[in-house]
Amino acid sequence: MAARGCAPWWLPLLQLLLLQLGAGAAGERWGGEGTSPHLQSIFLGRCAEYSSLLRPELRDKNCTAIWEAFKVVLDKDPCSVLPSDYDLFIDLSMHSIPRDKSLFWENNHLLVTSYSDNTRRFMPLCDVLYGRVGDFLSWCRQKNGSGLDYQSCPTSEDCENNPVDSYWKRASMQYSRDSSGVIYVMLNGSEPTGAYPVKGFFADFEIPYFQKDKITRIEIWVMHEIGGPNVESCGEGSVKILEERLEAMGFQYSCINDYL
Ligand SMILES: *[C@@H]1O[C@H](CO)[C@@H](O)[C@H](O)[C@H]1NC(C)=O
Ligand SMILES: *[C@@H]1O[C@H](CO)[C@@H](O)[C@H](O)[C@H]1NC(C)=O
Ligand SMILES: *[C@@H]1O[C@H](CO)[C@@H](O)[C@H](O)[C@H]1NC(C)=O
Repeated sequence: MAARGCAPWWLPLLQLLLLQLGAGAAGERWGGEGTSPHLQSIFLGRCAEYSSLLRPELRDKNCTAIWEAFKVVLDKDPCSVLPSDYDLFIDLSMHSIPRDKSLFWENNHLLVTSYSDNTRRFMPLCDVLYGRVGDFLSWCRQKNGSGLDYQSCPTSEDCENNPVDSYWKRASMQYSRDSSGVIYVMLNGSEPTGAYPVKGFFADFEIPYFQKDKITRIEIWVMHEIGGPNVESCGEGSVKILEERLEAMGFQYSCINDYL
């Protein structure tokens, strides 16, 4: 599963390259990037910026307390961190999401960033306080020691209950529960494996947590790469599976190809 943040699409490639350059050095046991240097400072800085400057109505959020609630996972075995381990962190950092502003996505990192940053029309998960503080960071304790592992951290291939995936699962669940009005879903119709992954964050940790009584309708956008392959459109393949699922759940939905 890909992480849920809003970082540019090429950052993971760069990181992979750097990881490979550094590979061969001792102690690399997991498949994922190691703990981000200056994790605590970045976390606290983002929290302060968000709650004091970007959303001053959140100035009562206590970033120190939010960090302390978050960092309990740094004491746990890196394959034994559950989404519920982030409950207190979420309780302290959660805030309302404006109606009609929720944007869900799969395989569209770059577009989500430009849609939310440039237009302020949407508030995707990475623009919510609890999503922003961990966006594109990595963290885990050493397997055998008590310190942080700066060499590598587990991915979903190494073990399901790893700190980063469990964070995005818990954050995604909260974001879905707090979404209301019109829900926007951006899918990539040029993705060879299908626009809607039937197993993925959206399918498994977002759709099931939608609060039906708060949602007026769901609008799906299937975006295609300009000049790229047109693998799926509305009503086709995995998009159809999604449409049928939403219909069976009783949601009103519409699907638009290449929304501008
Ligand atoms: C913020 O939380 C920390 C840690 O729980 C606590 O020590 C501090 O007093 C709190 N600050 C405020 C202003 O409530
Ligand atoms: C859509 O998927 C294609 C194929 O995987 C990829 O090359 C492209 O970057 C994706 N588009 C966006 C906006 O992420
Ligand atoms: C961790 O401890 C186990 C059992 O003592 C050992 O087999 C393993 O090699 C250790 N791993 C590392 C990275 O030190």
